Amino acid sequence: MEVIVCPTYEEISVAAARVVAETLNEKPDAVLGLATGSTPLGLYKELIRMHKEEGLDFSHVTTFNLDEYVGLSHNHPQSYYYFMWENLFKHINVPVENIHVPSGTANDYRAYCEWYEDRIDECDGIDLQVLGIGSDGHIAFNEPSSSLASRTRLKTLTEQTIDDNARFFDKREDVPIYSITMGVGTILDAERLILLANGEGKADAVAAAVEGPVSSMITASALQLHPDSLFFVDEAAAGKLKMRDYYDWIQKNKPGSPGA
Ligand code: GLP
Repeated sequence: MEVIVCPTYEEISVAAARVVAETLNEKPDAVLGLATGSTPLGLYKELIRMHKEEGLDFSHVTTFNLDEYVGLSHNHPQSYYYFMWENLFKHINVPVENIHVPSGTANDYRAYCEWYEDRIDECDGIDLQVLGIGSDGHIAFNEPSSSLASRTRLKTLTEQTIDDNARFFDKREDVPIYSITMGVGTILDAERLILLANGEGKADAVAAAVEGPVSSMITASALQLHPDSLFFVDEAAAGKLKMRDYYDWIQKNKPGSPGA
C-alpha cells in the first residue's frame, strides 16, 4: 500500500488523474473501473481537462462502474449512470458501447450480476480501479460485514450510508435501500487500485482501512491484501494516520523525487 498525502483536495485529484493518464499512455485500450460520489469529481474534472487540452484519448477505453441504486433507471438524476454521464462520459470520447454501469432495473438480478462479472472477464479484467470510501469504511456499496470474497450482487445499504447519501436526494425517504455492487473480491481482482479520500469526515475510515486489521467491518481494509494499491488523501482525511510521518518519508525518498 502506498499512502500519498497532498495538502488539498485539488492536489489529490490531479495526482490521481496523472495515474489514470499514465495507465492510458501505457495501454490506450485499458479497462478502467470507476466510482461515483463527490470524492472523484475533481479527478473527473481533471481528466476532462486533460482530454480537452492535452488530447488524453479515451476512444479505446472500456469502463466498468462499481455500483448503482436498485430501482433507479439510467435517466434518473440520482442514478449513478446519470452521474457518470453528466460528470465524465459526455465530456470525453469514450465510446458509449464501452461504458458499463450496473443496471438498477434488471429483471433477474442474479443473472445480471453474473453477466456483469463475465463481461469484466471478457474484457480481460480491470487495469485500474478508482475507489472512494464511505464514512463507515465501505468501498463501492460493500457495507460492513460484506464478505471480503464477495462478487457483484445486491446489497442492502446501512442507515448510515442512507443518511450520508440523502444529501443528493430531495428527501431521505427517496434514497433507495438496495444497491447492486461489485464485490470486494471483484475489486481486488483489478490490476491496480487507487482510493481517494478527502475531508475530516473520512479520517477514521482512512486510518482503519490503512492501519487497522483487515476486517469485513471496514471493507476498504481489504486493500491491504492487494499488491498495488495507492491511497490519495488530503491533510484532513490523513488526520488520524499514526504512521503519517513514515508515509511522507517514503514519498520524499522515492527514487526520482526531489528529496531522494
Ligand atoms: C457511496 C458510493 C461509494 C463512495 C461513497 C463515498 O456509498 N457507493 O463508491 O465511495 O459513496 O461517497 P463520497 O465520495 O460522496 O463521500
